[in-house]
Amino acid sequence: DKGTYPHYMLKEIYEQPNSVRDAMRGRLSPEEATAKLGGLNMTNADLRSVERIILCGCGTAFHAAMVGEYLIESLAHIPVECEFASELRYRNLPTDRDTLVFVISQSGETADTLAALRESQRKGHRTLGICNSVGSTIARESDGGVYMHAGPEIGVAATKSFTSQLTIMTLLATLLGRIRYLSYAEGLEILANLERLPALVSQTLELDAQVAAIAKKYAKAPNFLFMGRQANYPIALEGALKLKEISYIAASGYPSAELKHGVIALVNEVTPSVFIAPRDAVFEKNVSNIEEVKARKGPVIAIGTEGNDHLDKVADEVIRIPQSPDYITPILASIPLQLLAYHIAAELGCDVDKPRNLAKSVTVE
Ligand code: F6R
Repeated sequence: DKGTYPHYMLKEIYEQPNSVRDAMRGRLSPEEATAKLGGLNMTNADLRSVERIILCGCGTAFHAAMVGEYLIESLAHIPVECEFASELRYRNLPTDRDTLVFVISQSGETADTLAALRESQRKGHRTLGICNSVGSTIARESDGGVYMHAGPEIGVAATKSFTSQLTIMTLLATLLGRIRYLSYAEGLEILANLERLPALVSQTLELDAQVAAIAKKYAKAPNFLFMGRQANYPIALEGALKLKEISYIAASGYPSAELKHGVIALVNEVTPSVFIAPRDAVFEKNVSNIEEVKARKGPVIAIGTEGNDHLDKVADEVIRIPQSPDYITPILASIPLQLLAYHIAAELGCDVDKPRNLAKSVTVE
């Protein structure tokens, strides 16, 4: 039931304060200053012996894997590789014995992801699932895993399942990090920030009216560019995917610095560039990329940080998300991009919940 919302997608976007809370429920342990993921069926000694991780999925789940790569490498210092499930299943990837494989799937029924799971198990790797649908094929066949607990997602475009996946990636990185590099105090600090996450998501949703106005202004654009750096680069890809899926506007995502390697040829007066440029270690770098776009008269919509006015001088529109640590920002930055895609599609009269040519779960190859 959509309740008072015009579409399931909007309802699901608004459910995110609860769905991220549910992804963490019972999984934060302040006594041990770490995250607990009992469903992995692995002892700390098992986790300690992991030398490499492969994260695998399709579409939105693949973007969550890319964020996971960044988080696990930075918090746990374990080398991570992301792979599209459709590629992994046919790629003869050389893997060591101590490689742990995760497949990520909202539905737990995606044919390519299931095939990647089976191929990985065939090679003798412990293969874990990160799924939303309880009792789905991937959940049943994997050697353990983590449920998202996001509740049913009816809108074809993934929204709350994505932020749940990102939340679980943070939990996983914290757990792996605490075994290796993170101190008790560092673990506690991450936990304290995660406790604040549902409130930060609620606060971010208050940007809805501003994003809706921006959407109205740019809805007629023929194409969009999305850019970000580090863990926000996959968020740019996800922002572009959301817009393509439900509004049918051509959109592509890039690491911000790739602009000068070709993308900038697309910049013109009618092509908006959406930059994810929170206040972080690469903020100044993003600003110079924004300036390159402005110098070519490209409209810029920037996702910045509350209290940071610097972007006002360079961007046409500035959407400010709450200040947060690097492992939380991608979750918050996703929300205005979901809303932007939603409001543009609604403005264009598209069938938001059932976009053309798409199915909620892709059970054929
Ligand atoms: C994007 C979208 C798809 C799915 C992909 C994987 O909005 O819905 O890209 O993310 O088909 O689906 P699951 O997660 O069910 O394996």
